[in-house]
Amino acid sequence: MDTVKLTIDERTVEVKKGTSVLEAAEQAGIYIPHLCFVHGLKPYVGCRLCAVEIEGARGLELSCAEPVRDGMIVRTNTPKVLETRRNLLEVIISEHPWKCLTCWRRERCNPLWHCQRDAKVTDRCVMCPRNRDCELQRVVDFVNMRQDDQPFYAVPKTQPIRWKNPFLQYDPNKCILCTRCVRVCAERRHVGALELSHRGYRATISTAFGEELDCEFCGACAEVCPTGAIMEKSRRYTGVPDVSVPTVCGHCGVGCGLQIDVKNGKIIGVTAPESHAVNGNDLCVRGKFGFGYIQSESRLKTPLVKGQPAVNGTAVPVSWEEAIGQVADRLYDIREHHGPDAIAFVGSSRLTNEEGYLLQKLARGLVGTNNVDQAASMFHRGTLDGLGARLGVGAMTNSLADLEKAGCIVVVGNNTANTHPIAALKIKNAVKNHGAKLIVAHPLRTDLDRFATLSLHYKPGSEVALLKGLAAGLLSARGADLEQTAGYADLRASLQGSDAAAVATQTGVASEALQQASKILSEAAGETSPAKAQAGEEKPLPLRPSKPIVLVYGSGLSYAETPADVAAAVANLAVLLDAAGAQVGVAALAADANLQGSCDMGMLPDYLPGRVAIQDDAARARIAHAWLGAQGQLPSKRGLGFREMLEAARNGKLKAMVVVGDDPVTSIPDTAYVSECLTDLPLLVVIDVTATPTAQLADVVLPGVSFAEKAGTFTSTERRVQKLRPAIDPIGDARPEWWVLGQLGKRLAARLGGAAKVQLEYEGPKAIMDEIGALVPTYAGISYDRLEEGGLQWPCPSATSQGTADVLDQANTRLVAVQHESSTAPAASDYPFLLVTEKTLFSDLREPPINGRNLLQVERTDFAELNPVDAVVLGIQSGDRVRVVSPAGSVVARAVWSDRVEQGQVLVPSGVRSEVNGLLKRNGAFVRASRVTVRIEKAIELPVER
Ligand code: SF4
Ligand code: SF4
Ligand code: SF4
Ligand code: SF4
Ligand code: FES
Repeated sequence: MDTVKLTIDERTVEVKKGTSVLEAAEQAGIYIPHLCFVHGLKPYVGCRLCAVEIEGARGLELSCAEPVRDGMIVRTNTPKVLETRRNLLEVIISEHPWKCLTCWRRERCNPLWHCQRDAKVTDRCVMCPRNRDCELQRVVDFVNMRQDDQPFYAVPKTQPIRWKNPFLQYDPNKCILCTRCVRVCAERRHVGALELSHRGYRATISTAFGEELDCEFCGACAEVCPTGAIMEKSRRYTGVPDVSVPTVCGHCGVGCGLQIDVKNGKIIGVTAPESHAVNGNDLCVRGKFGFGYIQSESRLKTPLVKGQPAVNGTAVPVSWEEAIGQVADRLYDIREHHGPDAIAFVGSSRLTNEEGYLLQKLARGLVGTNNVDQAASMFHRGTLDGLGARLGVGAMTNSLADLEKAGCIVVVGNNTANTHPIAALKIKNAVKNHGAKLIVAHPLRTDLDRFATLSLHYKPGSEVALLKGLAAGLLSARGADLEQTAGYADLRASLQGSDAAAVATQTGVASEALQQASKILSEAAGETSPAKAQAGEEKPLPLRPSKPIVLVYGSGLSYAETPADVAAAVANLAVLLDAAGAQVGVAALAADANLQGSCDMGMLPDYLPGRVAIQDDAARARIAHAWLGAQGQLPSKRGLGFREMLEAARNGKLKAMVVVGDDPVTSIPDTAYVSECLTDLPLLVVIDVTATPTAQLADVVLPGVSFAEKAGTFTSTERRVQKLRPAIDPIGDARPEWWVLGQLGKRLAARLGGAAKVQLEYEGPKAIMDEIGALVPTYAGISYDRLEEGGLQWPCPSATSQGTADVLDQANTRLVAVQHESSTAPAASDYPFLLVTEKTLFSDLREPPINGRNLLQVERTDFAELNPVDAVVLGIQSGDRVRVVSPAGSVVARAVWSDRVEQGQVLVPSGVRSEVNGLLKRNGAFVRASRVTVRIEKAIELPVER
């Protein structure tokens, strides 16, 4: 029996086995006061306020730690319980600023009024950032403590408030030592940055082991703190929010739900939801604190048009009418004189699905060009094309929830804790809570290595060789099980020379470690097949273990020189594991919030909405009919990709570019080249939220809005379509991009006359999504009414479909030969180090504004990490200024001794330091970091600090 029946305060309650009495009471709507208990954490039994009477027990029992039993009779309000509770509470508040707590005027007092009880300013709830949102207040009110209930006398604490943390403050005087913060940090976040230190009156919360704070700034400690002791700085003295708007994070492809708290029309903070389908009640630093840019001074607030060179080319504010009119007129002229393909449209994964759809509709349906792309697609094409060709779906094949349930997880080439922190948290949970096996393969020691069963540190660029080595290991361990798999012979032939010894030479990973990895995978795939068992070689054993194996790789890895080979090597491993009996998923993590959705919407030069190839005549005709009527036609020639657009701008073939929500000057390596190409364009129009470096080059700049100001949908990396809700009004005169594109389309259509019948103006995003649903089969069952909490995962083919969590199409899978081995740069005597670059937790490549004041207080980006052995040989100390020199350029940094980095490598963070991109060239062309070797010299000058 999975449920238990008990009686609480004469009420019969039925709850799941294992539930605590306190939670059972909660489910029955009965409040038992508590201060140290938090859902999801082990009971601490520190405050003892949750004491209840249980029939048959000798004394009072602590309900937070007492599991329910069938027939149990619980009383939460007997005289003994009430008296105990009051006594305990008197002790707790005796060391707390308590005068307001028990004062009848508290609800009415204004912070600036005189106190009638002689309370010091620092003793007053009305001066506390947590006032009216405080669990201690709630408990005191519930117990009905009055002014006359004089607590025990204790000398009030007078410890200084600790301010140094950029996002949080700690006021020890308000701390009731419940240890919720310590436990959430250790148990739920697996960080362990805090501890309870000292004893008695001096007891306080401090950093673990008294060391410097080693914290990932997730803010979970502040969210569980029942008092104003740990407080988000952004909420100090704001009071409780007027409204909390549920929406979706705009920072990475995980698609976490969050609540934006708004007071007087301003965002005062972000809260994790109580329980969300994707992230439960967790957020990372970017989701929790990465909202500063939304209300920053750097926001664009009005359309700007650059005057003629005769007036110094200065941008001047104009009305929307005038700005859009000018853009439409100039696009019209360019189209008339140079044809539709002289115009290009660049979108971004920051746009909603509806906006991405509208952008490519404007390009294809109205202007008549397939020149549509997004700069970020170069990082995701490998996944889209490679996995699409090999596994039948160009996306993550399973759900992020599988990470938490997995029996075995393999992470290849992705520092998940930095790029997709909540996905990483799920991996950590799987290891810590369920004993999952974790193999982490990365050139660096990453945060996940702390949890790994096995770490494989390979030479940058040798991931395909490594994946082939794992496949070869699996073949030798489970060959007989796999022989019938389609393409087996091709794969086997291509794995000649991928034995453990050869792969060890190519990758730098010890052959024993490779063999161990194959063993872990083979065991996780389950036992040997019945066929083999019937032959009498093995005992009959069950197939398909219930826990899945998940292969994780990031979209950054797909930007290898041979992304199709990376995808094919990952896909081969998935097919082999599947054939060996495992439930397997490929978690190809899309970097940005709506990277998956923007590809689904056809924001690509060769795909229409629904990711159908532009050359598919029937699909093109169907969409043309829907947009333009029976005689309508869409261009069939593949458009220019973003890199080709730059080339075309350089050689004068491209005359105009409309960039929406992206900043390619910063986000694309080779900053100088991108700037030069964009400067060559006769017309550059940028729609964005801030004056990015790309916007500064533009002839017309139109102010767009952030994810917090608009409605629409994002599709996360796990194909989950979720609804955004506007939390605040657009800043200044900024407008949502769907509106801007609609107005631009209307004006341009008016110039083009009768031929331009395509609809681009809509009432709102909901109407656009209805059109998407009608055109894109995988989105057919998706409509706004169905996208409440948690959204739906595509394919969602009908209004009754609940979406699809797992899309690995076994019928379509096949093993393929992968010839490519390694793209590791060859060693050179004058450039002896391999370069490794990585995005840090606090950087967001395409969101420069969030790298503002707060985030950069917790992170320096001007460093170069060196293995201590190399540093000693070079005579470099931590903190020395060094110059990292590649054949293409150099960057000055501060050296840091680090055991994260293997000997012979140097790590320079990318993302916020665009000058790092200057290192990444060979023979004039941009190359991946793994193709670059560098040397390290001592430098005199200071690194550029941000
Ligand atoms: S933490 Fe709560 S009880 Fe303490 S001063 Fe602040 S509002 Fe009052
Ligand atoms: S912010 Fe997160 S990581 Fe840092 S101390 Fe609080 S719970 Fe721990
Ligand atoms: S800081 Fe808050 S959560 Fe941590 S022990 Fe003190 S009162 Fe409890
Ligand atoms: S993991 Fe990604 S989606 Fe989730 S809160 Fe962090 S940045 Fe936002
Ligand atoms: S909530 Fe049970 S002891 Fe604190």
